[in-house]
Amino acid sequence: MRAADELPVTEDITRFYRPELARVIAKQRLSEMMVLLRLQLNSAETLDHGPGQFLQISLPGYGEAPISFCSSPTRTESFEICVAAVGNLSQAMHHLRPGDFVGVRGPYGHGFPVNDMRGRDILCIAGGIGLAPLRSLINYVADRRSEFGRMILVYGARKPGERLFKDDLAVWDARDDFETRYTVDEADADWTGRTGVVTIPLRDEVEIDPGRTTAAVVGPPVMYRFVAAELLEKGMVAEDILFSLERRFKCGMGKCGHCQLNDLYVCQDGPVFRYSQLLGRSEAIEVWAPEDERK
Ligand SMILES: Cc1cc2nc3c(=O)[nH]c(=O)nc-3n(C[C@H](O)[C@H](O)[C@H](O)COP(=O)(O)OP(=O)(O)OC[C@H]3O[C@@H](n4cnc5c(N)ncnc54)[C@H](O)[C@@H]3O)c2cc1C
Ligand code: FES
Repeated sequence: MRAADELPVTEDITRFYRPELARVIAKQRLSEMMVLLRLQLNSAETLDHGPGQFLQISLPGYGEAPISFCSSPTRTESFEICVAAVGNLSQAMHHLRPGDFVGVRGPYGHGFPVNDMRGRDILCIAGGIGLAPLRSLINYVADRRSEFGRMILVYGARKPGERLFKDDLAVWDARDDFETRYTVDEADADWTGRTGVVTIPLRDEVEIDPGRTTAAVVGPPVMYRFVAAELLEKGMVAEDILFSLERRFKCGMGKCGHCQLNDLYVCQDGPVFRYSQLLGRSEAIEVWAPEDERK
């Protein structure tokens, strides 16, 4: 995984500055708000991304936005993104059909430090659409299973109908070498599983060896401080807790300062940070919420 400014000067950096065309080769609706798009570069090259990295995706007339990879780089001929319909661009992306094209720049940013995570127990904690970037990491671990210790996934969605990647959830749940805890905030008539926020099964049902565990956490900003408190309570240190942060990006590559968090550029230094990097930068996870930026 490399940030744009770490590329060797001899390498072709065109992809980092100029959008390249990628074709939609499959589309699947995951929930009312979310679609999964499988894309392939027009050049048929692979992107060589790391779990936790992102792309800048563009559509002429609609703009450009950062979107995480949700597929693992171990499955290389195409790549997948999962898009929430929240604004102009993402709603337009929901209308894409197989055969249509988007622009892509990247991959950008520092994702999950998979080399440092090798040999360790992996505890993934996903809230809502945070499962999308974590799916890239989870399937990476699944495909290189012998290189990692325990694989634990705690996933919470608001409602059963908002659960993403139901096929993957069933596959992971059925594996003997995966430990899964799924919950929803609000059950419906058909839901027979756990009810309650994600920190409840994390607190009550997950036992870890804190010295050999790395936690990867992606979800709504409000979740982070509660998850951090639980993990510290379990004896983990801030160095071993990884958070993926979301901010408003423009360039996505450390040039415009739009995503700045104190002395950090979230797009380039992150989006995945060790909790130890964020301590003392209080707005990193304690008080920030998307609507705050508009005040
Ligand atoms: C690293 C990273 C990875 C991401 N990965 C994904 C992903 O995998 N899937 C996904 O669906 N999304 C992802 N996002 C979020 C996505 O980039 C945004 O939702 C993007 O703004 C959508 O663009 P849009 O034009 O559709 O919506 P916009 O018009 O940008 O609106 C998006 C939402 O943000 C609000 N908003 C708009 N402008 C502002 C502002 N200035 N300040 C605060 N809020 C504002 C809007 O009200 C709306 O709720 C990611 C973001 C980051 C930073
Ligand atoms: S989005 Fe431009 S510096 Fe991060």
